Amino acid sequence: MAKRTPLIAGNWKMHKTVAESVETAGQLAKMVADARDVEIMIAPAFTALASVSQVIRGSAVGLGAQNLFWEEQGAFTGEVSAPMLVSAGCRYVIIGHSERRQFFGETDETVNRRIGAALHAGLVPVFCIGETESERDAEKTFSVLDKQIQKGLEGFVSEDLSSLVVAYEPVWAIGTGKAATPQQAQEVHAFVRSKIEERFGGAMAESTRILYGGSVKPANVRELMALADVDGALVGGASLDAETFSQLVHFNA
Ligand code: PGA
Repeated sequence: MAKRTPLIAGNWKMHKTVAESVETAGQLAKMVADARDVEIMIAPAFTALASVSQVIRGSAVGLGAQNLFWEEQGAFTGEVSAPMLVSAGCRYVIIGHSERRQFFGETDETVNRRIGAALHAGLVPVFCIGETESERDAEKTFSVLDKQIQKGLEGFVSEDLSSLVVAYEPVWAIGTGKAATPQQAQEVHAFVRSKIEERFGGAMAESTRILYGGSVKPANVRELMALADVDGALVGGASLDAETFSQLVHFNA
């Protein structure tokens, strides 16, 4: 099996001023200087991207944004484009997070356009999918994920998607302290990989990283990362503190 370098990604959501972001990023860059065989990403608020980029330059920590708009420029008040993120130092962008879908009207179609814009600009898209609690209770988990994958990745071919990262984040596990069990996570991750294989072939299925997100903590990171089809974590709450996030980065130490 092709070796996939694990990615530990921090989603800071709407937290931290510029000064606080710079402080945490600086602490983190020092704490993870010894980390091996792991890729690290933090996604601060838009306002802090350029400053954080300076602090982590040359370190093991990569920069990501939490969203983008698909047009490159124009009369789109309040939006931020892919080239703007690149110019602020970003290498990654989170797309289709459930909070964007839930509170800001994002759909599979807009997620698809955002992924296209990210790829066009050379950004690594971290494409988020996940079912709600009621969908899981109604045994719709696989059909919901299937649709999110089909529509989110519609129109692309495997060559376009060589950098794609998928993040499975069950909505009921985000910020609740109730992570998916290893069995639940592995079952879904294997399903997601099988869907990628069906659509884009075996080589892409083998090389695509599928992160788990939803209440990842130092106490559960090892058991999740040990799963065959879990290639990293997308972390909210536990990424805000440098020491805690560093423990997650060092899951294999
Ligand atoms: P959490 O958030 O780690 O706080 O559950 C995960 C996410 O929303 O990416």
